[in-house]
Parts: sequence; C-alpha cells; structure tokens
Amino acid sequence: DRGNYRHFMAKEIHEQPEVIGHTLAHYLDLTAGCIRLPVTPSFDWASLDRLSIVACGTAYYAGLVAKYWFERLARLPVEIDVASEFRYREPPLPKNGLALFVSQSGETADTLAGLRYCKAHGQHVAAVVNVPTSSIAREADVVFPTLAGPEIGVASTKAFTCQLAVLASLAVAAGRARGHLGIDDEKRLVRALGDLPGLVVKTLRLEPRIVRLAREIAKVEDVLYLGRGSSYPIALEGALKLKEISYIHAEGYAAGELKHGPIALIDEVMPVIVIAPFDAIFEKTVSNMQEVAARGGRIILFTDSRGAAAASVPTLETIVLPDMPSEIAPLVYAVPVQMLAYHTAVLMGTDVDQPRNLAKSVTVE
Ligand code: M6R
Repeated sequence: DRGNYRHFMAKEIHEQPEVIGHTLAHYLDLTAGCIRLPVTPSFDWASLDRLSIVACGTAYYAGLVAKYWFERLARLPVEIDVASEFRYREPPLPKNGLALFVSQSGETADTLAGLRYCKAHGQHVAAVVNVPTSSIAREADVVFPTLAGPEIGVASTKAFTCQLAVLASLAVAAGRARGHLGIDDEKRLVRALGDLPGLVVKTLRLEPRIVRLAREIAKVEDVLYLGRGSSYPIALEGALKLKEISYIHAEGYAAGELKHGPIALIDEVMPVIVIAPFDAIFEKTVSNMQEVAARGGRIILFTDSRGAAAASVPTLETIVLPDMPSEIAPLVYAVPVQMLAYHTAVLMGTDVDQPRNLAKSVTVE
C-alpha cells in the first residue's frame, strides 16, 4: 500500500526514520550506551584476521561504507568485492576469516554463490539481510537482520540505510571486542547512532530544495558525483540511484581520482555533485572543488554548516544538512541523493518503481 505517496519509492524514502530506529532498537541499548547484538555470533571478532564483504549493487555500496568503519573503528583488515567478481576470482581466504554477505532480498544469485564458496573454504559466514526467510539468510551461519520491512521500489532506499545501521553497529561491536574502542568511544558512537532517526527527519525536510535542484538535473545528460572516504560510496550510490530510475548517465568517483581522468569531462553543463560533510578530509575535497570551479564546472555541494562556511568555492547550490559526528554521516547523506534521483525521475516521467530492464531481485547470474 502506497498510502498517500505517489510511488513506493517515495514512501520508502520517508519511512527511513522509523525503520532505521526500529532496526537500531535491535542492536543498541541506548540506556546503557552499548551495542547489544540480536544474535550471538558464532565467531570471535578479536581473533579474526580478515573480513571479506561480498554483495551487489546498492548492497555493495553499503559494504563499501562498512569497510571504512571496520578498518577505522576495529582495525580489522577488510576486502570487498562485487559478488560476480568475487565468486569467479576464487580468492584465497585466510584461516580465521569472516565473510559477510549483504543483501536486501537474500536471493541474489551471485551473492548466494559467493556465500557457498566461502562456506566451502572454511570461512565464518554472516549475512546482513532484509528477508529473513531468504536463501542467504538460511545458509549463513549467523544472520544480522535489517528490519526495513518489505521494500517494493526496485531502487533500494530504506534497505540501504538499514544495512548501514546494522553494519555500523557491527563495526562498533568489533571495535570493542578487538580492544580498539573503549567504553567511552562505544557510548559516544551508540549515542550518535541513536540520533540517526532525528537527523534523517531533519534531512527529509530539505525536500523542497531538492525538488528545485531536480529541475536542473532533469535538463542534463550527464552528472558526476564525487566523495572522499566514507562519502565515496555515497557518491557511487547517488550515481546508481539517478541512472537506474531517471536514465540520466551518472558516474560516481572518489574525489581524489578527479585529476586522473574525469576532470576532462568538466564543462559549463555537467553538474558535479559533491558529497562532503565537514570531516578530517574536508579540505582535500575543497581542493577538488576548486579544480572543478577553475574549469567553469557547476558544483552542487551537500555539506553541513561548518562545511558550508569553510568551502571557499562558488557553487550552483549548497545544500546544508544537519551537523553530526562524521562516523554516521554516510547514513544521512544517502537521503538527499535518494530524493534527488526520485524527483528527477518524476520530472522525467519514468516508471519510478519499475524502471525499464531492471528486476527487484536478480536471481539469475
Ligand atoms: O537484494 P540485493 O540487496 O542482493 O540486491 C542487490 C542489487 O541488485 C540491488 O541493490 C540493486 O542494485 C538495486 N536496484 C539498487 O537500487
């Protein structure tokens, strides 16, 4: 049931504060200020030598954000690949390795094949899935559920942010178990995660500004998304969302890669969307924006109040999100890129919930 919304995708975008809160309630003890996982893992975080994350599409981008979290918060080496590459690479896997599969449907053929490969090669196998009865959920040793509820729109939105909520909780649990985070770090991060539903509510209020921006995007043929660190996967996700539902060509790039090729594309037409919360590497992204501006490029900046004050670059639009600890920013910055793709697609008149050529779950290779 779409309720009062025109599309399932719009409904699912707006459900995010609720379903993120619902998911986190199963992972956080807000009163005690600690992580409390809904299941006891069959492995010991402290003795893991490596984490391999495997997924497809948007779920892969959630895994890519998680790589930054697990490395930073738990000092756990992470390798990540899309399932269709991982399974045929037949990678060597360490003795004490955890393989983590991320999937909304739990039925993606390549992801499932990757899981079976890891099982056969002695890995601990965990899954972050939204459909509890799915094949991936059944075959994993341990399942960390996302509680996003049924996702109908082909473009994944609420499943993505719920995956991030679960993965962030796991990274904090791993950080504690591996002795890299102290009790106070855990408290601070749990509080930050607990603030997410409220931050997403505030971010959803930016929708009228995003609608105006979508009118600009609907006029162009190409869009470049840039981000650094954990904003890089959000740039990739923004580009994927836009292309899959509006059919506008979009690419996501690590901001530092700009001068290694894509800078040749900069002109007065193609919008460059920069995802840049004010964090330790913000200044680096500002220099990339200067490179774009110097070539007459049109910059659309998603940042916070500190970023807006510090970015000494002319932009076409600066969209100011609420201030928040940088660890949780990927979850919140996912929301405006979803809204931008959605409103652009609506203006283009595409079939938003059932875009051409795409299936909700890819059960063939
Ligand atoms: O069900 P899964 O999470 O395994 O699906 C993975 C991808 O097929 C999926 O995320 C796809 O990229 C979406 N259409 C993205 O919006």
